[in-house]
Amino acid sequence: MITVHEVPTLRELIREARAQNRTIGFVPTMGAIHEGHLALVRRARAECGFTAVSIFVNPLQFGPGEDYQRYPRRLPEDSRLLEESGVDLLYTPDAAQFYPPDFATSVEVAGVSDGGEGAIRPGHFRGVATVVGKLFLQVSPDVAYFGRKDLQQVAVLRQMVRDLDFPIRLVAVETVREPDGLAMSSRNAYLAPLERQQAAALSRALFAARDRAAQGERDPEKLERQTRSELEEAGLAVDYVEVVDGATMHRPARVQPGSSIAAAVRVGKTRLIDNVLLLEE
Ligand code: PAJ
Repeated sequence: MITVHEVPTLRELIREARAQNRTIGFVPTMGAIHEGHLALVRRARAECGFTAVSIFVNPLQFGPGEDYQRYPRRLPEDSRLLEESGVDLLYTPDAAQFYPPDFATSVEVAGVSDGGEGAIRPGHFRGVATVVGKLFLQVSPDVAYFGRKDLQQVAVLRQMVRDLDFPIRLVAVETVREPDGLAMSSRNAYLAPLERQQAAALSRALFAARDRAAQGERDPEKLERQTRSELEEAGLAVDYVEVVDGATMHRPARVQPGSSIAAAVRVGKTRLIDNVLLLEE
């Protein structure tokens, strides 16, 4: 695995890989690598001849008072895990070079960014679309891999790729979970042991909603209400529970194929998000 920090070297290595007819797969991350990230890497390796991963804790997607400063940074360990997973190239840009003081451009994806996470974290998806757009232009992959865990992020980036004609295919990969169902996340590291136990209630409630949908429940409001009360009973502070269509992020009138239930909760100071597909597409 080669590690690069600068765009000209990055471009040179990508050019060489392409000259060897290797398909370029790309997995953007903010590091603190876990099995969820590694599932994206494995998928990229299975489908592409050359796998690039970026690690960059993107200040633009954190709001004031969010966890930018304390976000886990573990480059040596991350680097070892990625190398062992067969990554060809690790790109770790320097924040001051990536966003020079006169940086002035942003990518705003209207509509699909507005609800859910976007409503609670204003500017978050502008930060995500801007960094991913810039990374796409720097790495110029053929295929890019994202986790379904961040369902709205996938919807926002698909819209961006379509609107701006990025010649890149996006692949969404199933959420990787701990044995008790908790979706893997770099932020799980913040949880104290008791909070970690409580956190399992998030996926439990979402899977219970999926079971009710499988038994024929088609009313989004009923599913949202029941799920919310289960989360609250478990002692979680609920930011939102929403039945959404995975492509538009709109709430369907009735649960239909492609509908998911998405939620964000707070456990102590830690904010967790998750979603589960209610009906197969
Ligand atoms: P990060 O949270 O590091 O996640 C990087 C990628 O891993 C994202 O596509 C995310 O959806 C995926 N991922 C995280 N946890 C997962 C899990 N349990 N199962 C499957 N995939 C999982 O998401 C970001 O970083 C940033 O917003 C980024 C896209 C890198 C832009 O800064």
